[in-house]
Amino acid sequence: MDLELARLPVLERYKLLIGLVIPRPIAWVSTWSENGVANCAPFSFFNVISEEPPLCIVSFNRRSDGAMKHTLKNIRRTGEFVVNLADEGTANAMHASSAELPESESEFTKTGLTPVPAKMVKHPRIGEAAASLECRVERRIEFGPEREMVIGEILLIHAREGVVDPESRRISEANYRPIGRLFGSRYSTTRQRFNLPGSLPPGELP
Ligand SMILES: Cc1cc2nc3c(=O)[nH]c(=O)nc-3n(C[C@H](O)[C@H](O)[C@H](O)COP(=O)(O)O)c2cc1C
Repeated sequence: MDLELARLPVLERYKLLIGLVIPRPIAWVSTWSENGVANCAPFSFFNVISEEPPLCIVSFNRRSDGAMKHTLKNIRRTGEFVVNLADEGTANAMHASSAELPESESEFTKTGLTPVPAKMVKHPRIGEAAASLECRVERRIEFGPEREMVIGEILLIHAREGVVDPESRRISEANYRPIGRLFGSRYSTTRQRFNLPGSLPPGELP
């Protein structure tokens, strides 16, 4: 089957793309609103794309009423944001925080999360998250009225106790159990990890 995207309705493209490119990592982005309400929401059009400079991308569409997502509004206003990484223990809160709340209501309050001051940006990090990446906007790219991508420079990583080994700086497989997004309300764990035989190309860490 060949599916030429230009011939497909936008919703069909979306369904195909988010169903095929799985599991996707989830940026659980936290920000303060202009009026001091702590906001957080998950975004799975997300990844890290570079270590020098250290960069991540997050891509936003519109709220159901066509308005700009509150997260993007807060990022545009301040030029900063925090990407928190959800794991099995915080999965329910992450999913619930995707609700389209009015700007005056906090997803932190609704889901029982704790806003903790970040170190290098003015927004809060999620206290319960496995790790948080404090980011400054490197640039924004608008792809038309519906889509906008933010490239963030990662300034600081905060990791929950036990997630990063202080000596080797390796990530603990036992203590970090990230989840990935599949489609709709479906997610995957990373419980079945495996090695493949053979050598790695130069530059890939063993
Ligand atoms: C797991 C998950 C991933 C999501 N990924 C995205 C995404 O990549 N881009 C986007 O614009 N919305 C995404 N959403 C929807 C937003 O989380 C949702 O619109 C949220 O209400 C935005 O909140 P805000 O207006 O407070 O920023 C996702 C939702 C879920 C549950």
